Amino acid sequence: MPDYKIAPSILSANFARLGEEVDNVLAAGADWVHFDVMDNHYVPNLTIGPMVCKALRNHGVTAPIDVHLMVEPVDDMIRMFADAGATYITFHPEASKHVDRSLQLIQSLGCKAGLVFNPASSLDAAKYLLDKLDMILLMSVNPGFGGQKFIPATLGKLTEARKLIDDSGLDIRLEIDGGVTKDNIREIAKAGADSFVAGSAIFNADDYAEVIKAMRAELAQ
Ligand code: DX5
Ligand code: ZN
Repeated sequence: MPDYKIAPSILSANFARLGEEVDNVLAAGADWVHFDVMDNHYVPNLTIGPMVCKALRNHGVTAPIDVHLMVEPVDDMIRMFADAGATYITFHPEASKHVDRSLQLIQSLGCKAGLVFNPASSLDAAKYLLDKLDMILLMSVNPGFGGQKFIPATLGKLTEARKLIDDSGLDIRLEIDGGVTKDNIREIAKAGADSFVAGSAIFNADDYAEVIKAMRAELAQ
């Protein structure tokens, strides 16, 4: 079985008590914290920045923090999030003028680098950069909001990305983001994903551990 990772998106957490929410979801069995950064420019919504990432580290969070930048441009935010304790930093290729340089910047600051592909984007931008990628993140909803429905065409795209990664022989994670639930996670894993972002499916539930356990049970099938 692949080394599956479950990454709850704190976009759906209660921001009035964020530290406690992150502690609870990690205690409930989550592997990573998925941290959605929106700038009301690249996407029509506004969320949280590096200060909040740093605050979670100061609060005692040691789990990997998976920072998903939905901002344009990206380089200043890359520097600030690396300083704030990010583990992964991913960005959308169209939000950087020099994608290769931005990926190098992430890795030079000691973080793991990834590219994010919107539902309508082809994977072409990843092709010549595979050696600089630690992660490919496929959006299975349009970026900007939690609680949307999984777009089924993403399944074929996952298979395509899985082949690209396997053919390269490189160690690159394949993450999926948007509309993931315990009811579709198995199908998504079969299509090739090994890392799963889930916001509303986890944080809207009464018992986080129960949902994460149900997701892992589906992945073990
Ligand atoms: C959307 C974000 C996602 C989102 C996922 O732009 O990147 O991480 O919060 O939320 P759900 O799991 O509710 O689709
Ligand atoms: Zn995200």
